Amino acid sequence: MSDILTIRRPDDWHVHLRDGPMLDAVAVYTARQFARAIIMPNLIPPVTTSAAASAYRDRIMAALPEDSDFTPLMTAYLTDTIDADDLASGHDEGIFTAAKLYPAGATTNSDSGVTDVANIHGVLARMEAIGMPLLIHGEVTDNEVDIFDREAVFIEQILEPLTRDFPALKIVFEHITTADAVEFVKAAGANIAATITPHHCVINRNAIFEGGVRPHAYCLPVAKREQHRLAVRAAAVSGSPKFFLGTDTAPHARGDKESSCGCAGIFNAPYALESYAAIFDAEGALDNFEGFASEHGPRFYGLPLNEGSITLRRAALEIPDIMPIEGTELVPFQAGETLGWTLD
Ligand code: NCD
Ligand code: ZN
Repeated sequence: MSDILTIRRPDDWHVHLRDGPMLDAVAVYTARQFARAIIMPNLIPPVTTSAAASAYRDRIMAALPEDSDFTPLMTAYLTDTIDADDLASGHDEGIFTAAKLYPAGATTNSDSGVTDVANIHGVLARMEAIGMPLLIHGEVTDNEVDIFDREAVFIEQILEPLTRDFPALKIVFEHITTADAVEFVKAAGANIAATITPHHCVINRNAIFEGGVRPHAYCLPVAKREQHRLAVRAAAVSGSPKFFLGTDTAPHARGDKESSCGCAGIFNAPYALESYAAIFDAEGALDNFEGFASEHGPRFYGLPLNEGSITLRRAALEIPDIMPIEGTELVPFQAGETLGWTLD
């Protein structure tokens, strides 16, 4: 059993960096662990144009130390009326790496999202033709559908038809939480992959209600039953190139989470690699960690693998209860717990 784990520099394929003072405070955590990250566009207002993405990329770099070599990979927030020409030229110019589909109302700042996938068929055809990946928040928004079933119903009602209509479209099914999603991705072609968060490998839905309501275990898609956690965790450590690292780190000020209507999102950026390493270690799958963290993602996106390496050591790491940040407080994932791996 090795006590030192050195892998090629990893990337995070799903990150919320926010904007303003929160961006200034949290960007460094992601940049410290990862060479590149896919930056989610659900700001207020959302990032819907290449001009807005380019300006946001500049703000991200301004939030980091001058010598940072972190690369933010920008995404477009798809709306019913997004400008397909700007999207395609933004992709061509290297401003947009991908575009994100939020079903309207599915999650934080998704009100301007797509109300019906039929409204963006022209845009999706264009993306398929130019090889621009579509990133999907895969939950239906119908209030009649139980919140724990929304991902499975999305697969049946939206995703399966979409993959039939656009058979060559590159799709990343983001932050999967169910055995249904694992099975769907495994059975699909090589153009369909999924990101997996650390939290969906670690907690099931009991964590949200353990001895009382636990707002810091609440995110979207919400954690599911234990059988689903086990399926997602098995997919992550399996070595399959269809599954790769995407933390979905989603910081909200402590007061916004500990509230009568608490925000969805788990802040896991500060110790994400340590969390994932502990999972792979517990599953006896450390040999597959580098693929998941550093290889499957860039290969799927058609980007070069990173140069350089990082090292994790088997050593106790105490996660703080609270992180004071920019006049507010953030509660990190696994607050107060001790992990078995530490990043050098
Ligand atoms: C994200 C956020 O806060 O922006 N929240 C979350 O629970 N994951 C949005 C998202 O990815 O669904
Ligand atoms: Zn997200």
